[in-house]
Amino acid sequence: PGKSTEIRPFGPEAIAAAAELVRGGQPVAVPTETVYGLAADATNAEAVARIYEAKGRPSFNPLIVHVPDLAAARLLGQFDAEALALAEAHWPGPLTLVVPQQPGSPIASLVTAGLATVALRVPAHPAMRALLEASGRPLAAPSANASGRISPTRAAHVLASLDGRIPLVIDGGATAHGLESTIVAATGGPLRLLRPGPVSVPGATTHSVGIEAPGMMESHYAPGKPVRLDAATAEDGEWLIGFGPVAGNVSLSSTGDLVEAAARLFDLLHQADDAPGDRIAVAPVPCDGLGAAIRDRLVRAAAPRPA
Ligand code: TXA
Ligand code: MG
Repeated sequence: PGKSTEIRPFGPEAIAAAAELVRGGQPVAVPTETVYGLAADATNAEAVARIYEAKGRPSFNPLIVHVPDLAAARLLGQFDAEALALAEAHWPGPLTLVVPQQPGSPIASLVTAGLATVALRVPAHPAMRALLEASGRPLAAPSANASGRISPTRAAHVLASLDGRIPLVIDGGATAHGLESTIVAATGGPLRLLRPGPVSVPGATTHSVGIEAPGMMESHYAPGKPVRLDAATAEDGEWLIGFGPVAGNVSLSSTGDLVEAAARLFDLLHQADDAPGDRIAVAPVPCDGLGAAIRDRLVRAAAPRPA
């Protein structure tokens, strides 16, 4: 924030500069065949936290991970016969598959919002493909717009809401589809259509996207133990997740750094679930910037569970 955003036409120099930024943990905007994505190293939690910081998004959603080919996808996710058939039919292209993660997957837990599944896509656009190759990293990339703004189909749309908030936009002209990828879940049972898009998948059942109460969202990890927020100290039987001056059993960030806290959030919630103690307490986290997304996630974690 505060610095100016460089815009470079798609070409070898732009890709080399973008790959260096990605390897250094920064997000960069890059065209795909659907919309422009804000791409960061999916194995680097703080890089992924910077996506959220740049977008000013008040909540964490699981993000799509872009990989160069099916072989790379299979290192990260488990493909059943149906998922394989879809991947072979539509990749590279505007289809995202949500599949169970491979054990030991290097994808940061912030990318999947702590879920055991991962959304994978092999993009067709030469710019995104070149960045995947040059960076050598799987790339988490939501649409490259500030929260609440429409998805960008041109470099100018990216600048309209992210100018000064990211270091670089690669300009590859207008995107071909102008609409986000189709998302299908292949996690056992029938294929489920999670988001309609450019690819139609006959036979995928439509998933209802009605209003869901906090803590009930099917696609969000929730700790198994009750959670108490804004705790200054641990009470009996509590495992305390600290922040800043509140040390806790573990800390989101002892220096009060919100990028670090966002990067560690889902790992520490999982750790607290597995730790001694039958309840989880969390130290106060400020509401500004990334803190809003962290608090949103914690409020959901603390909400009463469906029976
Ligand atoms: O076309 C596109 O897909 C663009 C370009 C940049 O590739 N990307 C995009 O990413 O739209 P994103 O991160 O905004 O889309 C993420 C959506 C989430 O809203 C969520 O619904 C779904 O993908 N998703 C991701 N991981 C999931 C998971 N493990 N389980 C269920 N849904 C998931
Ligand atoms: Mg979006």
